[in-house]
Amino acid sequence: MDKEQRLRVAIQKSGRLTDHSLDLLSRCGLKYSRGKDQLLCYGENMPLDVLLVRDDDIPDLVREDVCDLGIVGGNVVNEKRLSFLARGVEPLFEVLQSLDFGRCRLSIAVPDNFNYTGPQSLAGRRIATTYPHTTSHWLAENGVPAEVVTLSGAVEIAPRLGRADVICDLVSTGSTLQANHLRESEVVMQSQALLIRTPVPLPQAKEDWLNRILLRIDGVQQVKESKYIMLHAPRSALAEIRRLLPGSESPTIIPLEGTTDKVAIHAVCRENVFWETLESLKRAGASSLLVLPVEKMLA
Ligand code: PRP
Ligand code: ZN
Repeated sequence: MDKEQRLRVAIQKSGRLTDHSLDLLSRCGLKYSRGKDQLLCYGENMPLDVLLVRDDDIPDLVREDVCDLGIVGGNVVNEKRLSFLARGVEPLFEVLQSLDFGRCRLSIAVPDNFNYTGPQSLAGRRIATTYPHTTSHWLAENGVPAEVVTLSGAVEIAPRLGRADVICDLVSTGSTLQANHLRESEVVMQSQALLIRTPVPLPQAKEDWLNRILLRIDGVQQVKESKYIMLHAPRSALAEIRRLLPGSESPTIIPLEGTTDKVAIHAVCRENVFWETLESLKRAGASSLLVLPVEKMLA
């Protein structure tokens, strides 16, 4: 297939989303070989190539139609959207779906000895961030007049260097803040990975592949938590057992050879099945319980 027929997806080159993004694409069936420059992965069994770039560049690449798709944090998407709007440019990318990884939050963090009692504590202060638009937007919403100091990185050391009083930065485990004697004091936004696409209509063959990939992503996300559960139960306990099965649709009920009052129940549970659930099922009369992971699912 020529280049015009191949989908191109931009993902983060190195960072919190990289491994999860590649893993998701692999689970969707993609086999790829990595180019010499390590920046392009060529899809061997699908017309889909992966471009590895800085996460901040992903919305631009999709907006400028260099890439058809992007996997990027909601934090970056939000910041870019606000910056495009501020420049009077249409934010030409569409969020297709939330992905089940990359959870973190953009937060205000203050030095350990800073007396933070609420947003107004930031009035007149300097806030260092790589997310100036999101930060300004939040300050305006809270009616706090403060100075936003835009940095390109190493935000967490800005207070110690005297470049700012507090920071607004991404937090996931909190270890960066801790190492820099900072304390998370306000969540500005929650974030997770998003799949974005160009709003430009694609040639039909590409659109078709995109739709197939979206269905596969749905399948991948559903099976993560899903379990296949099998058990034996007395007919009299059927109602109670169905109630206990977490997130399952109609189970399959199979008669058991040599008995009329017992059946086998097979069901897909779209939630994790915990030991507590198995114990409750057993108390309700179930026996021979078996829980299996689900590998693939297609609705
Ligand atoms: C963020 C942030 C911190 C770190 C926080 O950077 O700037 O350095 O993650 O994570 P922690 O709470 O687990 O310590 P990120 O790796 O996302 O890099 P980027 O901002 O350059 O994309
Ligand atoms: Zn980044």
